[in-house]
Amino acid sequence: MMGAKGQIIITGVSSGIGLAIAKRALEIGFSVQGIGRNEPKELTSNPYWVFTTADLSQEKEVEKIQFQSAAHPLPTVLINNAGTLGRMGQANTIDWNDTNECMTLNVTAPMRLTARFMSMLQKSKQVFFTGSGAAQYAINGWSSYCASKAAIHMYAEVLAQENPTTPIHAFTPGKVDTPMQAQIRAASAADFPGVEHFREEHAEGLLVKPETVAEAVLHVIQNPGEQPVVFPTSQISTVL
Ligand SMILES: NC(=O)c1ccc[n+]([C@@H]2O[C@H](COP(=O)([O-])OP(=O)(O)OC[C@H]3O[C@@H](n4cnc5c(N)ncnc54)[C@H](OP(=O)(O)O)[C@@H]3O)[C@@H](O)[C@H]2O)c1
Repeated sequence: MMGAKGQIIITGVSSGIGLAIAKRALEIGFSVQGIGRNEPKELTSNPYWVFTTADLSQEKEVEKIQFQSAAHPLPTVLINNAGTLGRMGQANTIDWNDTNECMTLNVTAPMRLTARFMSMLQKSKQVFFTGSGAAQYAINGWSSYCASKAAIHMYAEVLAQENPTTPIHAFTPGKVDTPMQAQIRAASAADFPGVEHFREEHAEGLLVKPETVAEAVLHVIQNPGEQPVVFPTSQISTVL
């Protein structure tokens, strides 16, 4: 069923930023197609919610995903959000499989989903990528993650140049209180020399809430044209 405000298709909805965006989008009148390995149980009974099971690190599963939206004048938005940190550790310890899983999930799958989405007939399309500050500054021990997020920022820049009338964005959400941050804090100092700083910031309650990121992204979706291709969500939260 199409929501009064349009349709949001979002990957990685079982927790964190993706779950917060899906919940808020449903609350304010979008219909949502979630895509990922695990469906959030709290959304299953919502008539405006549909879930497609797919492991986005597997080519065959990505290519068989069907978008649920029929041709419609309301906005249809793809948010490529699913992601992994990959294995942390010095670059010379990262093997083929570690590299491949991170690059497939964080780069190849969003590129393929977006290519198929851009071929759909809807007039009013928008595309978002959950980017990262790690695309813009190097973090010792995060070679795969930093490289993957830099790649997806640049993909967004190219796509925006090719499609000047379509809002296309990679947003950087800051350090957000999600399971991914818990994974970071659990790293050894050998694998991630900066781990202590992340533990301190968490202990001091400095992490951004996923709900704040969701508000910012939904603000940009409903007010297209205000932001550059890559934007920090912290910039939006201040105006909410
Ligand atoms: N938290 C931060 O500080 C932060 C900062 C900058 C950017 N980000 C980005 O934000 C995005 C969301 O992360 P998060 O922080 O919200 O962490 P999260 O709660 O761990 O969310 C990651 C999501 O990706 C999904 N996912 C992982 N592997 C998948 C696979 N193979 N196939 C399909 N889905 C998969 C997970 O679902 P399942 O495991 O259920 O499949 C989950 O829903 C990521 O792209 C991340 O890089 C996070």
